[in-house]
Amino acid sequence: MVISCLLLAAISSLVFGGEWTASVVKDLDALVSSCIVIPCSFTHPNEKQPTSKIRAIWHLKSDMNQRIYFEDQTQVLDSFKGRTKLLGQLGQNNCTLEITDIKDFDNGPFCFRVELVDAPPKEKFSFIEDCVRLNMLSDAPKPELSHPKSATQDRPYTLTCSVTHTCPSHAPKLKWSREHRR
Ligand SMILES: *[C@@H]1O[C@H](CO)[C@@H](O)[C@H](O)[C@H]1NC(C)=O
Repeated sequence: MVISCLLLAAISSLVFGGEWTASVVKDLDALVSSCIVIPCSFTHPNEKQPTSKIRAIWHLKSDMNQRIYFEDQTQVLDSFKGRTKLLGQLGQNNCTLEITDIKDFDNGPFCFRVELVDAPPKEKFSFIEDCVRLNMLSDAPKPELSHPKSATQDRPYTLTCSVTHTCPSHAPKLKWSREHRR
């Protein structure tokens, strides 16, 4: 089994001259009305290409022409216009995508497609086996608070607060305040 797989890999790399691979997370939690960053990286079979020679597309898995991200906004689905931005440097094989103002219908799955613009021969690849599905959360997860059981006078007291979020480009603001007495 292992040997036949290796053989198959060897044959396919002979035929295609290299490897198209993408690394995209399969599932991500997304908070409605917040934003999300989808980590993504890829490899292509050609020699290293500059960002300007690589065309990136993110599209719905169901239809390659339903684009949620493309340089040319006129070819992006109306419901995604102005909401998607490529944060990754394509020349560094980084296809990280940001979606802002998350809507409850943004479930995906979304797939990455790459086209090498004028590397002869023109090459393109859709990573439809590596798509991301968004799991919609309607409420932000509660921050988690941890603190020592007791405090000692004149000694430091450490409170730790953490919150899970999915949008490193717009990290949430945490605010400490005194509890309001009722
Ligand atoms: C890809 O780009 C994003 C956004 O700039 C960055 O946060 C991330 O670290 C990059 N990933 C890699 C593997 O370089």
